[in-house]
Amino acid sequence: MSRLIIASNRLPVMINRSADGMTITPSAGGLATGLKSYHKDSNSVWIGWPGVMPETKKEEKEVIGLLETEQCLPVFLNEELITNYYDGFSNATLWPLFHYFAEFTEFNESYWESYSKVNEMFADAIIENAEEGDVVWVHDYQLLLLPNILRERRPDLTIGFFLHIPFPSYELIRILPWREQIVNGLLGADLIGFHTYDYARHFISSVKRLLGHDVDFNQIKLENRQVMIDVFPMGIDYEKFESHALEIQSKPIQDRSKEHQDIDRFLLSMPNRKLILSIDRLDYTKGIPQRLNAFREFLMKHPDYRERVSLIMLTVPSRTDVEQYQNLKNEIDVLVGNINGEFGTLNWNPVIYFYRSVPFNNLIELYSSADVALLTPLRDGMNLVAKEYIASKVNKKGVLILSEMAGASKELGEAISVNPNNIPDTADAIYRALTKPDKEMEKAITAMQQRIKRYDIHKWASEFMKALNKTIEKRSEHH
Ligand code: UDP
Ligand code: G6P
Repeated sequence: MSRLIIASNRLPVMINRSADGMTITPSAGGLATGLKSYHKDSNSVWIGWPGVMPETKKEEKEVIGLLETEQCLPVFLNEELITNYYDGFSNATLWPLFHYFAEFTEFNESYWESYSKVNEMFADAIIENAEEGDVVWVHDYQLLLLPNILRERRPDLTIGFFLHIPFPSYELIRILPWREQIVNGLLGADLIGFHTYDYARHFISSVKRLLGHDVDFNQIKLENRQVMIDVFPMGIDYEKFESHALEIQSKPIQDRSKEHQDIDRFLLSMPNRKLILSIDRLDYTKGIPQRLNAFREFLMKHPDYRERVSLIMLTVPSRTDVEQYQNLKNEIDVLVGNINGEFGTLNWNPVIYFYRSVPFNNLIELYSSADVALLTPLRDGMNLVAKEYIASKVNKKGVLILSEMAGASKELGEAISVNPNNIPDTADAIYRALTKPDKEMEKAITAMQQRIKRYDIHKWASEFMKALNKTIEKRSEHH
C-alpha cells in the first residue's frame, strides 16, 4: 500500500517561540485551512516549513515533537532562505507575476538561486521519507521545481501537483527570465491540477509555446511519458462550517463561550445596523483599497444608510517583510481613517477594522451574523472565504458580493458579481445587496450551498487522488 506525502511551503500549523517555549497555532490562508481537513483524516504525512527558526538542537527537537503530533515534518529555512526564497522569489517574483501585477515583479538572481535550493531541500526531505512507490502531492507556487527534481531522483514515485493561485496568460509568463525552468519543473508531475479551466488552458499554452511539446486535449506528451492536466476547483470542509454555525444559532447567548459572548455583545450593541463583512489576508491582490473606496462611494450616494450600516473589515497580517505589503498596510490605515473621520459620528464607525487573525469560532460568528459579504479581489486563485460565508449562512439570510476575478466566481453564479476596478458599480452592488428581498436571498444561498456541499474538500481531494491513480494505471499499461 503506497503512502501519501504532502509537500507545501506552509504547514497547516505554525510554531512560535514564546516565553514558555514553543507553541503551536493553526496557519491562515486557503491552502492550509482547506487541505488540513483532508490531511487529518488520511494517513498522510505533511512536509513543510513550520515558520520558526530553531536556535538550538533542543529547540529543534521540541519543534519536531510538536509537529509529530500533527503528522507533520519540518523543512527548516534559515534567514537568508526566508529572505531570498520566501519573501523574494516566492512572494516578490512569482506571487505578483501570477496575479497579473507585473509592475511589482522583481527579478533577482539570488532569489532564483535560493528558490532552486529550497526546492532541492524539499526533495531531500521527501526522499528521506519516501518508500518505494509512494505518492507525493506537491502544492503551490513556492515549489514549482520540485516535481521535476523528484522525477529525476526518484522515478518510482507518483507525483501530483496542485496550483492554488491563478496560472496567468503566457503574456505574463514570458516576462520571467526563468520561464522555461519553471514550466519544465512542473512537468515532472504525473498530474497537474488547477482551480479553473482558464488556468489550465493558460498553462497548456505556455507549455506549447515555451517548450514545444505536443498536446493532445489535456495530455502533454513528453518523450517517454505523459503529463495529465485537469481542473479541480478547491472546496471547503462544508460540514465543519455548517455544523458550527448551527451550534451557534441554537445556543442562547449566556450559554456560549466567553469569546462568543464578546462578539455577541458587540453585535447586539447595534441591533438596527446592517453588517457588511470582508475577510482576507492583507494582500494587494485582494482589492482592499478598491473595496474601501466603493464603500465610501456608497455612503456618499446613500446618505440615508449612514449610521445604519458598518463594514467589518478583518485583514490578516501576511508577508510583512515584503515592501509592497508594508505599503499597502499604510494605504489601508489611511483610507480607513479618512472614511471614519469623514462620515463617523459619536455613535457610529463606518469601518470597523481589525489587523489580526481570529480564532475559528469567531470567524463563524462573523460569517453567520453578516448581512453581506463583500469580497473584491483583483485576482484570486479561488477565494475560499466566499465559500465559507455561504456554508455558514444556515438561516439563508445573506448576500455575497464577489469579484469576477476570483476563481470561486465560476462556481458561485448566484452571487452579485462585480468588477472590483469599477468603483461605482461596486457601490451599486452594495446597495442592491442591502435591499435584496429575503426570498431572493434564500434562493441564491440555497443554490450555492447545494453546489459547494457536494464538491467539498473531501470530494476535491478524492477526485484529485482518483485522477492521479489513473495515471499510475496508464503508466503500467505502457510498460
Ligand atoms: N482565515 C484564517 N484566519 C483568519 C481569517 C481567515 O485562517 O483570521 C482563513 C479563512 O477561513 C480562509 C483562508 O484563511 O480559509 C483564506 O483563504 P482564501 O482562499 O480566501 O485566500 P488566501 O489567503 O488563500 O489567498
Ligand atoms: C495563499 C497561497 C498559499 C499560502 C497562503 C498564505 O493561499 O496560495 O500557498 O500558504 O496564501 O500565505 P503565506 O505566505 O503566509 O504562506
